[in-house]
Amino acid sequence: MPIFKRFGLLSDLYIALQLALTPTLRHIWATPSLIFHPTAISRIFMSYVWTAFGAGIDENNVQLKTSLITKNAYGVVLDLGAGHGHTAKYLDTTRVTKYVALEPNILMHDAIRRTADAAGFSEPSGTLLILACGAENTTTILTSLGGYQPVDTLVSVLTLCSVPDPQETIKSLTTEVLKPGGQLLFIEHVRNPLPNVAWWQSFWSPLWGLAFDGCRLDRPSHTWIQKVGGWASEELTGTDGEDEEHLFWHRVGKFVKAT
Ligand SMILES: C[S@@+](CC[C@H](N)C(=O)[O-])C[C@H]1O[C@@H](n2cnc3c(N)ncnc32)[C@H](O)[C@@H]1O
Repeated sequence: MPIFKRFGLLSDLYIALQLALTPTLRHIWATPSLIFHPTAISRIFMSYVWTAFGAGIDENNVQLKTSLITKNAYGVVLDLGAGHGHTAKYLDTTRVTKYVALEPNILMHDAIRRTADAAGFSEPSGTLLILACGAENTTTILTSLGGYQPVDTLVSVLTLCSVPDPQETIKSLTTEVLKPGGQLLFIEHVRNPLPNVAWWQSFWSPLWGLAFDGCRLDRPSHTWIQKVGGWASEELTGTDGEDEEHLFWHRVGKFVKAT
């Protein structure tokens, strides 16, 4: 693996620091008690990073998201780690009855409202619900949605890399939150199957996670999803033209739960 691939992510980190460090320090200056809350600081930092990078990352994936999300999503859609609500842009309002944006970073909620509104989903009409909890808070999700297995479509775009206790979280979501016959649609960067690349992913993950709200590069999220079992069908692919030695190696999936 050439050196520029091993260290390539340092340039992203540098750009993120340039964009997000000063405004984050301003928050800490205004509220010094934040220094006792590293998660809160990381979320402030992440909100500035996502303001700078989110739209561009979304635009790079328009075709992929259209073929995965627009084509398949229906009913009640729960978007895990909604960010700025970009998923809403890909939802067909004739097939999706409600967009539930789960986003623990409340600094992103205004952007979710704006994006969802432009896509035809709003709180006053009851077609948009924003949840401020994490994906691991299954009880809160179920209480907010009024019962057991309320969701037709679970969407996860670049989020499973950040949730705590991911294996348990994936299991709870697919067992308790997803309806029988419902589907999980995901685009995730995951552990690279090449051991030397995976080594570098693990090497960078503590530093990367510090800056990007706990994001890890070395999680085999797609295999954890497969291992949960109970799927009637599994479609798993990569992304077109991706370098096999990439530190951000993606898997794209459509998994339908058995009835
Ligand atoms: C890389 S961003 C992706 C945002 C969005 N899915 C998209 O692709 O536009 C990861 C998102 O996961 C959220 N996140 C972090 N921890 C989470 C958790 N425990 N549960 C759900 N989402 C979480 C972050 O706040 C962030 O918005």
